[in-house]
Amino acid sequence: MEIETLKQQAGEKAVMLAVKPGMIIGLGTGSTAVHATRKIGQLWQAGALPDIVGIPTSEATSVEAARFGIPLGTLDTYPMIDVVIDGADEIDPEFNLIKGLGGALLREKIVATASRRMVIVADERKQVALLGTRAPVPVEVVRFAVRPCYDYLVYLGAWVEQRLLPDGQPYLTDENNYILDCHFDGIPNPVALAQAIRQQPGVVEHGLFLGLATDVVLAATNGINILCRTNIMKPV
Ligand code: A5P
Repeated sequence: MEIETLKQQAGEKAVMLAVKPGMIIGLGTGSTAVHATRKIGQLWQAGALPDIVGIPTSEATSVEAARFGIPLGTLDTYPMIDVVIDGADEIDPEFNLIKGLGGALLREKIVATASRRMVIVADERKQVALLGTRAPVPVEVVRFAVRPCYDYLVYLGAWVEQRLLPDGQPYLTDENNYILDCHFDGIPNPVALAQAIRQQPGVVEHGLFLGLATDVVLAATNGINILCRTNIMKPV
């Protein structure tokens, strides 16, 4: 089955399982989460999800949600979110994640932390036994501190590359920061690494999402697996 079909199945299934009328809903970012946003938009337009408010995790998601007329809000007005549906770049057996290859890790983590429930939507390629084996850890840094942050992340054992646009210019996040993509050959202790990264002044956020995901909707060629914390995945 096409990967795009699997992504769509995961996104739509998560909406059917986790979204109800009247909810405050975090709208994730990326090529899988967009299917959830579109499904919410279709249900909203059909009158099946009255009184919802969406909290987008990026400017791109905000634009997508607005296409459907989903009512949007901010954390100023809605500091407690019922559920966020978002993608991931890696998912380990304890539901720890790497996120941020789409560049929205900062707002994604803020929204996830404000949410009672975080449903991850992904295709089966994202499942890993150990974080850091498939994807780099994106680290968002203020522009003034890019060199000391780079050097510090190398000191922590990463092979670091600054994220660039196709024209060679530095990639800028929605908050106008840079991203350093940090490649590790596996991360045996993600908690320790997360704490170490936070020690460096100039680091705004990193893409290790530890203990935040509550559910995973994983689309595979043989069907959709719905996993929650009490029913965690077996290692691949
Ligand atoms: C966006 O910043 C990311 O965290 C995405 O959620 C993540 O990269 C997964 O994206 P895809 O669903 O496009 O793979």
